[in-house]
Amino acid sequence: MRKIDVKIPSRPKDSYTIAIGNNLLGSILTKVKKRMPKKNLFVLTDANVAKAGLLKKLLKSSKLPYYIISPAGERSKHIQTVTKIIESMEKKALGRDCAVIALGGGTVGDIAGFVAAIYKRGVPVIQIPTTTVSQADSAIGGKTGVDSSISKNAYGSFHHPSAVYIDVSTLKTLNKKQFNTGLVETIKHALIADEKYFIYLQKNMKDIIAKKPGPLEYIALKNCQVKASVVEIDPYEKNKRRILNYGHTIGHAVESASNYRILHGQAVAIGIIAANIIEQKLGFGDKKRLSELKKLFKQMNISLKIPKSITKRKILDIISRDKKAVNKWPRFVLLAETGKVLCKKGDYAHNVKRKIVEDAIDILLKQSF
Ligand SMILES: NC(=O)c1ccc[n+]([C@@H]2O[C@H](COP(=O)([O-])OP(=O)(O)OC[C@H]3O[C@@H](n4cnc5c(N)ncnc54)[C@H](O)[C@@H]3O)[C@@H](O)[C@H]2O)c1
Ligand SMILES: [Zn+2]
Repeated sequence: MRKIDVKIPSRPKDSYTIAIGNNLLGSILTKVKKRMPKKNLFVLTDANVAKAGLLKKLLKSSKLPYYIISPAGERSKHIQTVTKIIESMEKKALGRDCAVIALGGGTVGDIAGFVAAIYKRGVPVIQIPTTTVSQADSAIGGKTGVDSSISKNAYGSFHHPSAVYIDVSTLKTLNKKQFNTGLVETIKHALIADEKYFIYLQKNMKDIIAKKPGPLEYIALKNCQVKASVVEIDPYEKNKRRILNYGHTIGHAVESASNYRILHGQAVAIGIIAANIIEQKLGFGDKKRLSELKKLFKQMNISLKIPKSITKRKILDIISRDKKAVNKWPRFVLLAETGKVLCKKGDYAHNVKRKIVEDAIDILLKQSF
């Protein structure tokens, strides 16, 4: 088992450890009980994760209370689910001495983290991520929340986990599309932080897609290192953490314009290609990297084709309303080189002229695979 410590210097009590291994699930509860012997544990998961047998593997013969979110997926990520969970915790007479265990993907992790942040003014949460997105991204960093009927993550809070346990064997039951698109955040991590890691991903993508435990443990470790190093410097998203938004400005716009029919990872892949085109137009892009990325996404079976119903105007309209926009125009995170984000005077987000962005979108709209 490998371990990484995430230190939060401004609030040392919020620091935590990430443990990574293969076939860990059956031994996690014993470890948690050892770490927090006085806590009453409450497990949250969703219907698909339970159906995949992961809840049974985690609980073994223990009789811990649990709650299964149904239906699984983003549709349940709203405030009514939080209310139901909290009332179910109260009925089980759980007090401030309880801790929430999140077993599932980013949806369960975000709901459970938010429940833990507000239940009786805050109880600990332990994350056990079971998707490529959550193992690389959402389980680490402390962002929690649920959607309103108007926007995503409208209700939210920063609540860092007390511990994270990554068991790569849980990915075996995840469907191929979810698995592959979730890997886009992994590629993003390599691009923003580590060129050697990007080369590793190109060389080993076949084994990663084949879900071989060795490469999966390695990428979990690298992803946590990259995300943890950013979170440690900027635990509450004030500046540096923006680099994790690489590819997300146009990516989010495409995702939202598709009414969330395009999966987040696929949209971010499109956004990463857009950022690479913009970098080239600004004169510091890398042609080789752009063709390597296209090759990689093809190997991962991720289409970069934007559906006809999504027009340039729609994308421009959405990015002008980006939550980080200034004067109705977003600022972009860009790469200075592979593994290094462009930083000017301590700022990681940059103004890009509208014409350049429009030209990049024109190129994207012509993408045919
Ligand atoms: N908090 C953050 O920093 C952060 C970062 C990225 C994404 N997110 C959030 O994460 C959510 C997406 O997370 P996700 O991509 O993990 O999706 P998800 O949690 O919705 O899971 C995708 C699907 O796979 C199923 N599933 C999960 N694990 C499984 C397994 N091991 N075997 C079989 N089925 C399994 C789920 O039930 C669901 O149907 C979004 O709501 C997004 O906003 C949060
Ligand atoms: Zn993302």
